Amino acid sequence: MSSARQDNSGRVKTLLARMTLAEKIGQMCQVEAGDGHAPDNLGERLRAGLIGSIINVVDVGVLNELQRIALEESRLGIPLLIGRDVIHGFKTVLPIPLGQAATWNPALVEQGARVAALEAAKSGVNWTFAPMIDISRDARWGRIAESYGECVLLTSELGAATVRGFQGEDLAATGSIAACAKHFAGYGAVESGRDYATTNIPDTKLRNVYFRPFKAAVDAGVSTLMTSFSDLNGIPATGNSYILNDVLRGEWGFEGFVVSDWDSIRQLRIHGLTENDRESAAEACSAGVDMEMAGDAYRNHLSSLVEDGAISEATIDTAVARILRVKFDLGLFENPYTDPGALPEFGSETALAVAREAALQSIVLLKNDHGVLPLNTDGCSSLAVIGPLADARYEQLGTWIFDGDEELSITPLAAIGALVGDNTKIRFVRAMENSRSRVNEEFDVAVDAANASDAVLLFLGEESILSGEAHSRADIGLPGDQVELVRRIRATGKPVIAVILAGRPLTLSNIVDEVDAILYAWHPGTMGGPAIADLVFGITAPSGKLPATFPRVVGQIPIYYSQKNGGKPPTRENVVHIDDIETFAPQTSLGMSAFHLDTCFTPLFPFGHGLSYTTFGYGNIQVSAAEIELGQTLVVSADLCNHGDIEAEEVVQLYTRDLVASVTRPVRELKGFRRVRLLAGETQTVRFELHTDALAFYGRDGKATVEPGLFHVWIGGSSDTELRADFRIVKSD
Ligand code: NOJ
Repeated sequence: MSSARQDNSGRVKTLLARMTLAEKIGQMCQVEAGDGHAPDNLGERLRAGLIGSIINVVDVGVLNELQRIALEESRLGIPLLIGRDVIHGFKTVLPIPLGQAATWNPALVEQGARVAALEAAKSGVNWTFAPMIDISRDARWGRIAESYGECVLLTSELGAATVRGFQGEDLAATGSIAACAKHFAGYGAVESGRDYATTNIPDTKLRNVYFRPFKAAVDAGVSTLMTSFSDLNGIPATGNSYILNDVLRGEWGFEGFVVSDWDSIRQLRIHGLTENDRESAAEACSAGVDMEMAGDAYRNHLSSLVEDGAISEATIDTAVARILRVKFDLGLFENPYTDPGALPEFGSETALAVAREAALQSIVLLKNDHGVLPLNTDGCSSLAVIGPLADARYEQLGTWIFDGDEELSITPLAAIGALVGDNTKIRFVRAMENSRSRVNEEFDVAVDAANASDAVLLFLGEESILSGEAHSRADIGLPGDQVELVRRIRATGKPVIAVILAGRPLTLSNIVDEVDAILYAWHPGTMGGPAIADLVFGITAPSGKLPATFPRVVGQIPIYYSQKNGGKPPTRENVVHIDDIETFAPQTSLGMSAFHLDTCFTPLFPFGHGLSYTTFGYGNIQVSAAEIELGQTLVVSADLCNHGDIEAEEVVQLYTRDLVASVTRPVRELKGFRRVRLLAGETQTVRFELHTDALAFYGRDGKATVEPGLFHVWIGGSSDTELRADFRIVKSD
């Protein structure tokens, strides 16, 4: 459901008719005005009506004054869009988006975006640059942290939920801010995960994978889109008319506006697409980029381009109309100023409760040998809490937290202390200055603490600085001397529980067998500590599920659940391991299937994986019909039983495979998911409705189509579920 919108087209038209060319181009320019960055002539340019948007100011007093100048001292009094990266919270920080994706809970993600919108709006921000809905299948890419992971459906659902949360039911209401779906398109496919690198994505893959979350955001009513920094098949996204004019506007009917990424218009020259800034302005404007973020190519060149006839004034009018429309939709002409008192306090009880619930549902129990978790406060009289991320208020917040208030953070150490009270003695040893440290002088102290305690909680991972924009890594193992720390603690023979805080899936092969349990907490945000404490002590059972596949080694990348079969798929029987090759094996063909000799062909943990403190059993999968016609809906159901003696939640997942198609289809595609709460011992039948439209794919002709034929359908608790039924789609008469 998209937010309510008045038809402001008449007002846009009237205003546009009164504008000079210079004023129109002004609307297409965004200016950085954060601390120390404001241009000297900011006031002058505002008075002349030459600025459409400000970025990176969050002082409500300053912003109200800038709005006042724009409104009262410029000829036409057009209010400003105030942009800021509010990515996963504002003062109250929610888990990183990848963590939020692990909740598989669109309603909760929507609430989180609402919390962020209310706090940002209180500071005068009316436009955020989120959600980032780039499909991310390469954990080396630092920006996977900002994404909702690898899956088209999960990203689409959560992206749309985020848009709803930011924009609310009424974009003009106090507390609603405009969202920006980014980065259109293909950014997540940058070669080898190097940020800003090039991408090559065939059209069928663009349409079947990378475009889909953006289409969902458009359908959810997103106000704006941002282009990607990256090159797409030889045409950088910021100059790519095919994706912006043909697909976004032509095919999807998007009526909002498109903003460039930071200075990405001028970067068209560096890409090698243009010779100078003037040509870059012409390329971007013709390609459909309506506003330039923080550069000055439009400011310096659009007017002469129009005068020379290289860009028509009609093109400018179209761009400006789109921008004005968003300003009218936001109600800025009626209510341009921010009254902070009209919005909830920063870090309100509600905000903290949502942040806590999001963290709780985002944490994934990867393994739990012999039920070592949860710990029992009665049975655990002493606990060693070890590691550089156990008590790091800032680091638990993750990347992109410009405005995050570290003072609100409750660390795991603090929360565990509060939870256990005097029952359990806590011995805390930081052991390493930070996750990258190679100084291990404190390891002996950590070992002593472990020896003296009943169990060890090891807080490992990577600080926030190791993920995010321009923070890609080639080796995604635990950095610094952490593996050595794990081995030293393991040698004590005490139960070892690893709690990992990270901005991406890390490769954990070298520690997975060295610890008894792993809770994967991502960067969990302000309330990460209480959420972790609740899970460790079983106040709540873990329910997060992986939104991205965990490779065993970095060389497996890209590895994701919805891969194609290829002509020689690996199986348990046809793979050969390097250690099993005979000493003299000249010219021998090994296995003849798609695998690496030196690792397993499966991931360490599959997409959708996540354990609980209870055991869920799936059975009795049923389809409502063996055959359905195109245009009909199939009901697929399975029985889910909670075999344990605690109440718990499970994310039930439905996957399909289209066995034969004119364009080959992935081996599995997520087509439905639902969080279900079950009492101890309870069984529920979980039903999904599957309309044949959900099985459409973009074929050779670039059109969405559903091809009749045989389909597999699975229901289960992860992408490797084996519980399957079959059905057939037949043509309607
Ligand atoms: C560059 C980033 O790529 C984009 O995601 C962000 O919104 C802008 N900078 C503004 O900070």
